[in-house]
Amino acid sequence: MIVRISPVALHSSSSMEQDISPIEASVPPDKSILHRLLLIGSLTRSAFRIPIDSPHSISHDVIATMLALESLGVPVEFSDVGIELNGVGRKGYRMPSHSINCANSGTTARLLLGLLSGQPFNSTLTGDSSLITRPMKRVAECLAKMGANIATTQSGTLPAKIVGQNLHGAEISLTTPSAQMKSAIILAGLFADSPTTVSGKIQSRDHTERMLSSFGFGIDISDEITIRPEVVSDLDEEIVYAVPGDFSCAAFLFATAILLRKRVTVKNVGLNPSRTRFLDMLTLMGAECEATNVVEEWNEPCGDITVFGDRLTEPIEPINISGDDVPLLIDELPILMTLSIFANGESGFRGVSELRLKESDRIGLVANQFKGFGVEVEELEDGLIVQGVPERQLSVAPIIHGGDHRLAMAFSVAALFCESEVFIEEAESVGISYPNFYSDLGRIAGQKMVDVSLV
Ligand code: S3P
Repeated sequence: MIVRISPVALHSSSSMEQDISPIEASVPPDKSILHRLLLIGSLTRSAFRIPIDSPHSISHDVIATMLALESLGVPVEFSDVGIELNGVGRKGYRMPSHSINCANSGTTARLLLGLLSGQPFNSTLTGDSSLITRPMKRVAECLAKMGANIATTQSGTLPAKIVGQNLHGAEISLTTPSAQMKSAIILAGLFADSPTTVSGKIQSRDHTERMLSSFGFGIDISDEITIRPEVVSDLDEEIVYAVPGDFSCAAFLFATAILLRKRVTVKNVGLNPSRTRFLDMLTLMGAECEATNVVEEWNEPCGDITVFGDRLTEPIEPINISGDDVPLLIDELPILMTLSIFANGESGFRGVSELRLKESDRIGLVANQFKGFGVEVEELEDGLIVQGVPERQLSVAPIIHGGDHRLAMAFSVAALFCESEVFIEEAESVGISYPNFYSDLGRIAGQKMVDVSLV
């Protein structure tokens, strides 16, 4: 699919002229929560109904998890009420008849490494051309401390052969703040013969911990996390779980609102504090943000978020990202980098080398693309320095997102500010997390700016 993005004139309307009723949007269900709901739900004896608007709005990564579960004998399907899943209990998986293809989804692969290492059968995980280049060894090495037997390729990547073992509880200290690694260990811990403790760098998204606790599994959370496998979930037989909207998708709409000086409300978005550091950054940049109608279900807060781009009267401020912020906005970094192009001065993104290990080398591809756009940018081993200039127009350049969904979206938002129209090839890549991205972008920027009718 090719999408044509046409340039918008920066700050075309002042806040005085603008209609102040917000543009309303909704985003797909949070994919981190949905992966976990499917995987953890499958270990219960409950029947789950997960309401969704349409199967077409579901991220392709989540479909990879559904297919993986199907091959493990778990009943899961789309129906006219959403996604329906029947848990098979902790001993209910069946040996898959073929290797499990996790497609582009790192979360599917890493969480399954944890779940499958304690099964009474062997299995093999593989993935698409991007996923088979991403590191799996560091997860396998942590799980080996519990007795797991996982053979990756020599370069530590998929395909990975998992020889099912009787796992033992262990004390594992994380040196990388990765939610996927943390979750792999926690899920393996459910199959061990004694408690497992995870300590060290555990400050990353905590959906796994929240869900296990709300479903009645044995998990204690303090400065460290302890999983007590002897405690079995006490969920009811029938569960309706409405997954909040994906904050990481909404971030692209908020950034567009700021750059176009519009007021945008995204309804029913996840507000888990381990995901929302991006809002603090928008505030530091000078934008007003507000959460309303906040409720909490299954330990996960969610609400409507409004970003008042229309109230910005000054250029946005530059920002500096490093250290503890990084795991709390890891997926928002590409769009934050796009925002920094238009800030009033130099922004720094340091300590973000994990970005080189995502669906693409996000530091390298962002640096190249920004240079193509005519932005002054310095690539560091562990980050980027971006010289922002307010109200600028970008040079037209080929868009090279490497099939990476978040880069395709971040570069598409930037392309609204190019000197003339820009074509995004392989635009279907956005479906990995946000299949309706271009129609939602068009609602904010104007449908004429975002033409998806090209093939
Ligand atoms: C995710 C964790 C993050 C994030 C990814 C989804 C998850 O990766 O980048 O998109 O659902 O656990 P890390 O493992 O680096 O935290």
